[in-house]
Amino acid sequence: MAMSRRFFLAAAGVAGAAAGTGLLSACSSNSQSAVGANGAPGQLEVFSWWTDPGEKAALDSLVSVFNQGNPNIKFINRAVVGGGGDAAKAELAKRLAAKNPPDTFQAQAGQMVGDYITAGQIEDVSFLYKQEGWDTQFSQKVLKLIQRGGKYYSVPVDTHHINVLWSNPKVCAAHGVSAKPASMAEFIGNLRKLKKAGDVIPLAVSLDPGQEWQVKHIMETVLVSTLGADDWAALWKKGADWNTPKVTTALNTFAEIMTYAPGTGSTVTGWDQVCGLVGGGKAAYQIMGDWVEANFTVAQKLTPGTDYSWCAVPGTAGTFLFACDCFTLPVGAKDRDATIAWLKTCGSLSGQDSFTTVKGAIPPRATVGADERTLFSPYLQWSLDEWKKDILAGSLTHGVVASGAWNAAVDAAVTAWLSDHNVPKLQQGLVAAAAKFAPLAQV
Ligand code: GAL
Repeated sequence: MAMSRRFFLAAAGVAGAAAGTGLLSACSSNSQSAVGANGAPGQLEVFSWWTDPGEKAALDSLVSVFNQGNPNIKFINRAVVGGGGDAAKAELAKRLAAKNPPDTFQAQAGQMVGDYITAGQIEDVSFLYKQEGWDTQFSQKVLKLIQRGGKYYSVPVDTHHINVLWSNPKVCAAHGVSAKPASMAEFIGNLRKLKKAGDVIPLAVSLDPGQEWQVKHIMETVLVSTLGADDWAALWKKGADWNTPKVTTALNTFAEIMTYAPGTGSTVTGWDQVCGLVGGGKAAYQIMGDWVEANFTVAQKLTPGTDYSWCAVPGTAGTFLFACDCFTLPVGAKDRDATIAWLKTCGSLSGQDSFTTVKGAIPPRATVGADERTLFSPYLQWSLDEWKKDILAGSLTHGVVASGAWNAAVDAAVTAWLSDHNVPKLQQGLVAAAAKFAPLAQV
């Protein structure tokens, strides 16, 4: 029986549970609210790319927990539009270069946050881990991605599931195809049947300029499907070999799948508008991370299992391709005490549960209790189970296995493929990118 948020909070001993607002109150770990100089109210500028209604609602939920513990700090939402964060990361780079950092910014655990560590742009926050006990509370799989030399440089706030195939079950049933194809062969057969019907988009994705990350996202899931988790991980390490028949097979499968993804024919379509095609019955499938569920539930008010269903991207069942959003303490942050108060909220049980239950993610914690589990949607309970039992693989598109520079080289190869559909050339571009960046890969 699902437990109400208020009852869970009371049971968890969290004072002042928000009354039925679906928001978790501040974990009292941070009762001291940081204020500005001479006791004046302080402020906190938080930089992210969470602008979709679902993601904004999740951020608001986290901010509500922060505000309850820090009433004297004014929250400034500095969110930059653009799914996948390419636009946000470009603007952030300018601010960091100008020594004008936000008080904190969204980063992606793994190689991407490593770029900021290497550049000396973020502080070591190990003191917080010791003080709050996070080094034992958080998943060890996640912790090793945000540390270097035994030090921690950011605070994870979620774990996203990347290799998810979303579907509109009514559209699939009406066309006699499964909403949860188990194999790539079955999936491609379904796509072929949907294309033949001619009245629905088989696989929804944007092919518009600036949305290449959505195509790269599909490509990485097909590579994992063909190669498996271990061979996928080897592609991002020193000595990586992209010139193998298996990579060729994967890229040909990717190219075949994309023949069933006609794009949206509009000017520019973000991932959230692509969700609208699936939720609105104009498309059958979408391969995208599980921030999609935040859009389905918050923006479209859809019902899980009835209006949308989910499964692992065919051929990746048993592998959890993941990414983790984390927050940072930039060197030179103007409101450093307010940032530390924010990071404490991001690392707290109530902050993470309040955020992830709306965001379509699972918390980056070592364990989720039986009562706490009832806070999560049917989809997220599936993802929690997968996290526990699957082999983990790090996402390319969302920052785990490759640096920003390596990602940019992959983007160039994918963008070229989008115009010439030349698979051997795509593979050679990926080979060249690995030759340049694999030797630099940080552990
Ligand atoms: C990812 C990020 C998610 C979500 C997604 C779509 O990189 O980790 O939190 O924002 O992009 O924009």
